[in-house]
Amino acid sequence: MAYTVLVTGGTGYIGSHTVIDLLDHGFDVVSVDNHSRSDASALDRIEAVTGKRIPHHVADLTDLEATRAVFRAHPDIDGVIHFAAFKSVPESVEHPLSYYRNNLNSLNNVLEACGEFGVRDFVFSSSCSVYGNVDQMPVTEETPLPPSESPYGFTKQIGEVALQDVAKARPQDRYILLRYFNPVGAHESGLNGEVPLGQPQNLVPNITRFGAGLQDQLIVYGTDYNTRDGSCIRDYIHVMDIAHGHTLALRYLAEGRNVQNCEVFNLGSGQGVSVLEAIRSFEKVSGLKLDVTFGPRRPGDVIAIYADNTKAREHLGWQATRDIDTMMSSAWAWEQKLAEGAAVKA
Ligand SMILES: NC(=O)c1ccc[n+]([C@@H]2O[C@H](COP(=O)([O-])OP(=O)(O)OC[C@H]3O[C@@H](n4cnc5c(N)ncnc54)[C@H](O)[C@@H]3O)[C@@H](O)[C@H]2O)c1
Repeated sequence: MAYTVLVTGGTGYIGSHTVIDLLDHGFDVVSVDNHSRSDASALDRIEAVTGKRIPHHVADLTDLEATRAVFRAHPDIDGVIHFAAFKSVPESVEHPLSYYRNNLNSLNNVLEACGEFGVRDFVFSSSCSVYGNVDQMPVTEETPLPPSESPYGFTKQIGEVALQDVAKARPQDRYILLRYFNPVGAHESGLNGEVPLGQPQNLVPNITRFGAGLQDQLIVYGTDYNTRDGSCIRDYIHVMDIAHGHTLALRYLAEGRNVQNCEVFNLGSGQGVSVLEAIRSFEKVSGLKLDVTFGPRRPGDVIAIYADNTKAREHLGWQATRDIDTMMSSAWAWEQKLAEGAAVKA
């Protein structure tokens, strides 16, 4: 089956891993990114892994004309995976308007262009941050969404509602909302991974950078939460498992197996791992001992969350196949690759 997918945010962390998985499974891929949070070196890494150079556009999706130009250049696009967005919770607390502008306007424009160019399948990067601080674990897709803890999380909640409304107005089209939990790790080849721009906000790049001696401190934010060891609990999921979830979601749509024209799936391992447990896993796989610093709670952080992934398993045939130690060892291998300077083009 020939199927061309436009991947927005294709040079970013999850986007580039998903492009690899899509190419590995026979999809044709076109990518677009404005390189605000990534650069073109991802295209080299994708080629190094797959042997394929994908068509790529540098365009800002908050610009409707620039967005249309990408669709016009590729009349064969069958579906879109929309990753392009800003993703930092603390940054969104500091700069809410930039998050509302970037994340919502880009989604709006891509949906507009899909309507104009007759693109029928759409997969949206949502996030477990839509669940905020929930009491009942694990969270299912039916768990009611409380007011968001951060402007970032709210952009994902608004995005989901916008997509549900668009799906009602376009009954012939098909939409999937994937709520990722905490993607970590790197491609098994050691040839692709996350290239942090500036100080990373997420835990795992902070752990690996501290392990590599690239930062002076590894701060654990909050040690007095009501959890088994006082640190926050997250559901870490290997980035290649997340990537494969997109391949399966597109297949599901392309084969018309969807039950409704807008469906939501959790992509998480189903396992809650505390910040301190994640650090211990890193210490185990790297053989290093990390001297961590304990800091105060960070605004916007939820206390504990992990997924019920039954729906993705039963409908998409998806499963989380890699455990926390595998995630940590791939992240550590990638950090060492970054230290060699091999992954980043000058
Ligand atoms: N990484 C996570 O922890 C996580 C968790 C849940 C959801 N998500 C969501 O998954 C998606 C991808 O995340 P990621 O980790 O790959 O982030 P990333 O920052 O590595 O990738 C996002 C990409 O989108 C691009 N981009 C941003 N705004 C753009 C615009 N206006 N026009 C064109 N390109 C633009 C950036 O340059 C970047 O390459 C995001 O929507 C994010 O909110 C990420």
